[in-house]
Amino acid sequence: MNHLSELLSRLSTAENIVIFTGAGVSAESGIATFRDPGGLWAKFNPAELASADGFMANPERVWGWYQYRRNIIDESSPNAGHFAMAQMQKMWHRATVITQNVDRLHQKAGARGVIELHGNIIENHCFECSEPYLDEIDLSSNKNPQCGCGGMIRPSVVWFGEMLPALAMKKAEISAMKSEVFFSIGTSAEVYPAANLPILAKENGAYVVEVNPNETAISDYMNLCVRENSAEFLPKLLIEYKKFLNK
Ligand code: OAD
Repeated sequence: MNHLSELLSRLSTAENIVIFTGAGVSAESGIATFRDPGGLWAKFNPAELASADGFMANPERVWGWYQYRRNIIDESSPNAGHFAMAQMQKMWHRATVITQNVDRLHQKAGARGVIELHGNIIENHCFECSEPYLDEIDLSSNKNPQCGCGGMIRPSVVWFGEMLPALAMKKAEISAMKSEVFFSIGTSAEVYPAANLPILAKENGAYVVEVNPNETAISDYMNLCVRENSAEFLPKLLIEYKKFLNK
């Protein structure tokens, strides 16, 4: 049996499937990844732009960068990979989408119950009291947005050095441990604790599949590595799966 037919056969019997994603799944929507050549961390300094210390040191710089990224994300649309993953969730109703992405493109494509490990770039909250901030961010006044409590408003993304949202992480770990097929798609798997999820799934018996044009830190742990872009491979996988069921 070749690897693809083994995957199709496992998908046809699996009760629990996990789709774990990273920045690569949004590459074809025009959103830059972080660690690819020319990616965000090749041009920008994460310590300055994605840490609480960087924010406290220069909130204007951090806000400018997030508003720049927000504008790109606002104008972007889900790609064929996002739609295929939403379709996979409909087909396998026990498929859980776990993402490190902050762009909400999975939800725009119709995915349900998406577990967001790194927050989202759409919303804002108070740095001090955590109260959500619902007003528009207007940087033209040159004033940093402030909460009623006097705290500074920040984007609702998780920064380096911060804890992941506890409930999201717990749900993600439980889903990974229960999964029979676990997809790791478009992530370099270099940022922990999220990157531990594929390993946790494998240790608990899942068949783990990486979809990524490049080798990653966890490729050696995978049962199957598909060296293709997600927007190309996932729609093909759905077609192959339907053929497999009709055999
Ligand atoms: P990375 O930029 O580290 O990795 C992106 C991965 O996507 C790479 O392994 C690429 O080979 C792969 N890739 C590129 N194009 C692809 C395509 N079309 N289809 C499939 N894969 C493709 O992004 P993440 O792994 O998501 O954290 O990074 C994890 C975290 O690091 C991010 O959530 C972010 C960053 O710092 C925070 O912002 C907290």
